[in-house]
Order: sequence, then structure tokens, then C-alpha cells
Amino acid sequence: MHPLEQLREDALRDIEAARDAKSLESVRVKYLGKTGSISEWGEQMKTLGKEERPAVGKLLNQARTAITAALEQCGEKVRAESESEALSTIDLSLPGTPHEIGALHPLTQMWQRSIEIFRRMGFALADGPDIEDEWHCFDALNTPPEHPARTEQDTFYLADGRLLRTHTSTVQIRTMESVPPPIRVIAPGAAYRNEELNATHSPQFHQIEGLYVDENVSVADLKGELEFFMRELFGLDTEVQFRPHFFPFTEPSLEVYVRSKALKGGEQWIEVAGCGIVHPAVFEAVNKGRGDDAYDPERWSGYAFGLGMDRLAMILFDIPDIRLFAQNDLRFLRQFA
Ligand code: DAH
Repeated sequence: MHPLEQLREDALRDIEAARDAKSLESVRVKYLGKTGSISEWGEQMKTLGKEERPAVGKLLNQARTAITAALEQCGEKVRAESESEALSTIDLSLPGTPHEIGALHPLTQMWQRSIEIFRRMGFALADGPDIEDEWHCFDALNTPPEHPARTEQDTFYLADGRLLRTHTSTVQIRTMESVPPPIRVIAPGAAYRNEELNATHSPQFHQIEGLYVDENVSVADLKGELEFFMRELFGLDTEVQFRPHFFPFTEPSLEVYVRSKALKGGEQWIEVAGCGIVHPAVFEAVNKGRGDDAYDPERWSGYAFGLGMDRLAMILFDIPDIRLFAQNDLRFLRQFA
């Protein structure tokens, strides 16, 4: 046997005997390393005669190829073995770490449902600040200085004379001041009133304001669209009733009541919104604010509404107490997950 063939056999036996990555590496160094046997043979080739070289060179190549392949194969085997050994210490039957999945607050769910319906009806979203001035909250909405809503009893005033908006109707004014007609917007947001906190009243509550301004807007538009909204929200067998009311910024003004057998307290009419046809005085005030006559009351007409979001959510989810929305009690919140 040629010594190179012997070398090859020794190497393969060493590789076979290696049990882990470390011993395998030392085998590699012993044969293929810089000063390993194979490399040494490479050096020796130079000293051989011309006629010997091809045969020895061939043996050397074969040995190198065989050793390299065996090292690779064995390396893979060793890797797989150590991996499965590591895995064998894991008990797959143990329970995992529980993953808490969050959920949307019932009021947020209510916003999303309502906004989605209005968007399908062509309403865009509008916004305004929670801290307002008297002009946007009262004057421009045709609410005279002596109106009871303006007293300290109802409104939270800041030291500088500004206030927390008592309704989202402020956004009607802000929107019209910045965009000319026609307009079709909703404005979801919080409103604040200086009220005793109890099961049905909260100093902070939530509304969706709506405003549609165009030529020839009528009570029929208002009724049809709010009725559509209520049926989309509460179900097709929901009955909707409009009762005459008074708001300073609309004429005529109406309150919206709903009743549905699908809802808790099915026989009862529940008040859910105020609405009406925009008062010409509101357009005049907006023109004054804008400094033009973009909202000429002779040409433009509109309807507006304000929906009580907390109330809607309480009806839809059968929630008995408005305070639950803000208490962050997980036992309550989890029911809507
Ligand atoms: N702003 C009224 C409130 O908070 C609700 C309301 C009534 C809004 C009539 C309107 C409206 O836009 O037209 O009680």
C-alpha cells in the first residue's frame, strides 16, 4: 500500500472515531491544516522525479478529496446529534407562557362602527380642540350670553376665560370657518359639562357631530340619513322617531329616539341624538368669522346632528352604568374582547 493510501485510511478512521465538533476539528488540523500531513505531502511532491509525480499527485488529490468529504459528512452528523441532545432536555408537554391579547375598549369599538357607517355615507372626518373659546362654543352657535348653558354651573371655565367645550358642535363652526360649502363632515370627540357623576351622567362624555351643508338640504335628508344610520347600527328592525325640540343653532330642532326589539328594554323609546336644520344665524356668524359671505343663508342650507356615543354604546352593549367606561376594570373590559 502506498503511504498516501495508508494516510487516507488513517484519516478516515480518525474521522469516524471523532465524537464531537472539537475532536473533529483537531482531526482536520492534523491532516488538512497548514502543517498537516496532506500539506506536507504537497511540499514533498516538489522533490519527486518527473515520472513519479502524476501517480503520486493523483493519490494525493484522492486522499484530500476523500478526507474533506468525510469531514463534512461527519461534521453534519455531529451537529445534528448535539442539536437533538439539546432538544431532548426540553419538555414539550409543559404549558407555554400565556400570551395576553389586547382588545379595543367598547367606546372605541362604538366609534369605529359609527365612523365606518358615516364614511360609507360620504362623510369626511373633521376635528377641533377640546379647549375652546366662547365664540366657537356659544356665540357662533347662536347661543346668547344669558343662556343657562353658559353659566359656571354647566361649563368648566379656565382662568383665562377659555372653556372645555360643552359639545362637539364647536367643530361645525371651525370647519365652516376653514372650508367653503358644500360640506359633509362628522367630528367625533369628547365634551365636558360640570355635572354630578352618576350612572347616566359623566363630566366627560363623547359625541359624534355631523354637518351637511349644500343647496336645498331638507328635514327629509336629515331624517332619512339618520334613520339609515340607526338601522345600520342597531339592526334593520330598529324604529326611529323624531320629536320636536329646541336648540339655539338649529331651526327646526329635533330629538332622535330609537326603539328595537333586539335591544335590551325593547319596548322603550331611547333618546340618542339632537339634530336640526342649521339656523341662518349660524351661517351669518361663520361669515363674520371668515370675513366673507361664503355661507350665504339665502343660497346654502344644512342639517346638523349630535350623537351621544356613550349612550349609543350603553344601548348596543347593554351597559347599565356610564362610569364603567372610565374605571378600567378588566372584568368589565374583557367582556368586549
Ligand atoms: N350639541 C347638542 C348637545 O350637546 C346636540 C346637538 C343638537 C347637535 C342639535 C347638533 C344639533 O348638531 O343640530 O346637546
